Amino acid sequence: MEDFRERKRRGDRITALTAYDYPTARLLDESGIDMILVGDSVGMVVLGYEDTTSVTLAEMVHHTRAAARGVKRALLIGDMPIHSYETEQQSVATAKELIDAGAKAVKLEGGASECGKIEAIIAAGIPVMAHIGMLPQHVREEGGYKVKGKTPSELEALLKDAKQIQSAGAFAVVLEIVTPEAARQVTSLLEIPTIGIGSGSHCDGQILVTHDLIGLFPWFTPKFVSPEARVADDIRRAAQAFIRRTKAG
Ligand code: KIV
Repeated sequence: MEDFRERKRRGDRITALTAYDYPTARLLDESGIDMILVGDSVGMVVLGYEDTTSVTLAEMVHHTRAAARGVKRALLIGDMPIHSYETEQQSVATAKELIDAGAKAVKLEGGASECGKIEAIIAAGIPVMAHIGMLPQHVREEGGYKVKGKTPSELEALLKDAKQIQSAGAFAVVLEIVTPEAARQVTSLLEIPTIGIGSGSHCDGQILVTHDLIGLFPWFTPKFVSPEARVADDIRRAAQAFIRRTKAG
């Protein structure tokens, strides 16, 4: 994990993408990605839930196992789903389950309020990536995916969360949908790398949901994503070609 701090010091940007299955994890690993997150976004882009608030630990363990079989080189991070880290004791038990499934580190959402849990997981020997800014597990209370860090009080809260997460021992922090200026300030405050999603270019690295990057979830693409492929179109084209070929005999 020191390597990531060193990379931040050198200005060497860190790359991260999500994977939830063996072939995707293997393809990303072979492509040279630094980190692979088995994100709870699996709930939306694979399992068809409306948001991540229905994802269970059993589902995360299942997908972490599959992805782990495809990873030889990248850091595989297991996402802790909602309701799986409500106490320090439960947090450690959940993190251990994801490690047993093949993850090498875990991620959880939240700032200062989660520091006791971050410390407990690290004390159990498991590296933790934190996640602040827009927290998808709170999307229902928040009433949508809203940009964070716009007001002075939001910016102050982000900076406080970031500092405390670092003191608690997190090796990196995801900054989700915060203003570019807030991302710049958090990034320059911390020694650990910030991994941005929808937070501008000042972060030490970037993460995306792979389905968004490759156009595999065409029904919704976040505004900040520029897809590099249109895999959904290829699937439709291949399926239609097969249907035509089969019907033609
Ligand atoms: O679940 C996920 O994929 C995530 C990333 C968007 C950071 O948390």
